[in-house]
Amino acid sequence: MNTTYTISFVAGARPNFMKIAPILKRFNYIIDNSLYEDVTINIELVHTGQHYDRNMSKIFFEELEIQKPNYNLAVGSCSHAEQTGKIMIEYERLLMAHPANMVVVVGDVNSTVACSLAAKKLHIPVAHVEAGLRSFDMTMPEEINRRLTDTISDLLFVTEQSGINNLINEGVSPERIKFTGNVMIDNLNHNLNKIKSGRSKPHENIFNFVKKSDKYAVLTLHRPSNVDNSDNLVKIWSALTSISEELPILFPVHPRTRKKFDALGLINDNIFFIEPIGFMDMLYAVNGSTLVLTDSGGLQEETTAQHIPCITIRENTERPCTVEIGTNYLAGTEPQIIIDTARTILSGKGKKGSIPPLWDGQASYRIADDMINFLLST
Ligand code: UD1
Repeated sequence: MNTTYTISFVAGARPNFMKIAPILKRFNYIIDNSLYEDVTINIELVHTGQHYDRNMSKIFFEELEIQKPNYNLAVGSCSHAEQTGKIMIEYERLLMAHPANMVVVVGDVNSTVACSLAAKKLHIPVAHVEAGLRSFDMTMPEEINRRLTDTISDLLFVTEQSGINNLINEGVSPERIKFTGNVMIDNLNHNLNKIKSGRSKPHENIFNFVKKSDKYAVLTLHRPSNVDNSDNLVKIWSALTSISEELPILFPVHPRTRKKFDALGLINDNIFFIEPIGFMDMLYAVNGSTLVLTDSGGLQEETTAQHIPCITIRENTERPCTVEIGTNYLAGTEPQIIIDTARTILSGKGKKGSIPPLWDGQASYRIADDMINFLLST
């Protein structure tokens, strides 16, 4: 007897797109090749509209070959409660009109927690990809989103050992936890191959910057704790200014960060502010860089996977394996520590790092199989 299952995949903000891409790709392969006998799988992609600018959303769909979303909830930017509430209302409405057998959420953004709550209250099983990560800093909106999502999810797909430990310490039953590796690395490997084989070429401004710079750093900064507070931002800026005397810094600027820099009037000839760039340009720039300075979560992982030194401008990380096994340094926001870490790296004494377990480019295979087996067992 043939059984049909509908799976609703949620993506809403920039860091979701690189996680959902390899999972959708694998599901499409399974469907096109009928890998599971007597099972029909329908996949539906929902974009919440949390991010909406071309450079924050559409460009990722094009470059990562993500199918057009079946639905766009178009919630846009607003306060946390309003954004989370709007997504819940719209997604609940959608699920009631178009029921699903499983909802898949990724990462830790407001769309992740909003859609998992809406689904769970309709008794739809939830699968959370990138579960168990903890910064233990409840002032971060992402930490609240992660904890709430994990508490109600039926399947918890974990990227590193700390995720398993955290979930077990929180009393989660081991059957819900699946150590499947990191889909960010599936996406990274796939797209790095496209660059290395010449199938993807960077835009001219990025190509020219990389070509003319013998060594350079790439910078990203958008955490509210770093950019919303002027004192912190000025402190971080003093470290960046000092590092920029040693090597130029390419800085694709997030919209919320741009507003703050414009208001404070911070500029420097050797720090190159550019608009947010797509995944392929970023990968090209990071892959050729001497070091990366960031407060992003994903870049800590992508640099470790490429053996590129990374200075994380935060007091904590929810991805400790990048520091313990990889090339990441948790420098905090004290200028002297950031500068000294950069000097260690530039003097050639930086750590070389290894690739964490199961960051092998096959996480999406394991995740898709586990999801289908879960559906078959219910
Ligand atoms: C969100 C995620 C964060 C992730 C980041 C990556 C939450 C709580 N935070 O933070 O985890 O690392 O995305 O970018 O979900 N804006 C635009 N265009 C857009 C989107 C946003 O101009 O397409 C501006 C708006 O002024 C908005 C501000 O950026 O108010 C912040 O956007 P928002 O989605 O609220 O949070 P992010 O800082 O992007």
